[in-house]
Amino acid sequence: MKIAVVNGPNLNLLSKRETDIYGKYSLDEINNMLLDKARVMGVELDFFFSNTEGEIVSYIQTLFDWDGLIINAAAYTHTSIAIRDAIKAVKIPFVEVHISNIFARENFRHTSYLSDIALAVVSGCGAYGYLYALDYLVRVLKQV
Ligand code: DQA
Repeated sequence: MKIAVVNGPNLNLLSKRETDIYGKYSLDEINNMLLDKARVMGVELDFFFSNTEGEIVSYIQTLFDWDGLIINAAAYTHTSIAIRDAIKAVKIPFVEVHISNIFARENFRHTSYLSDIALAVVSGCGAYGYLYALDYLVRVLKQV
C-alpha cells in the first residue's frame, strides 16, 4: 500500500515557526514518526513538501495509482481550487490534516476547499494529527 504525504507552504519551518501554535516538532521529525508507524503497519510512504501551489498540483497529478494521501495544504487549504481539482482528478482517498485547530482561529481559516471531499479532517491534534490520519487512512483502505 502506497500513501503520499504532502505538506504545503511554511511547514518546512515547523519547530521554528509560531511554536505556541504549531508546536516543537520539525517536519523531518514528524516524517520520521510517520515512517516508524508506516513500517509497523507495512505501508510505503512518499513525502512531498513545497511552498508553491503549482508544484503541489504537479505532484498530486502523479498519484493516479497510489492508494491514499495525507495532506496539510497549509494556507492553500483556504484558497486553492487548483489543489482540490488535482485531488479530484486523480480520485485519491485522502485525509486533511492541520496541526492547529483551524476552527478556533481567524475566520479566514474556517473555510477549507478540501474538507467536503476528504475522508476525514484532523485539526488541532498537533503533530500527532499526521499519525492519526495515517492510522485511519490505512484502516479504511484495508477495511479493518
Ligand atoms: C495549518 C493551518 C493553516 O491555516 C495555516 O495557514 C498553516 C498551517 C495547520 O497545520 O494548522 O500554514 O494548515
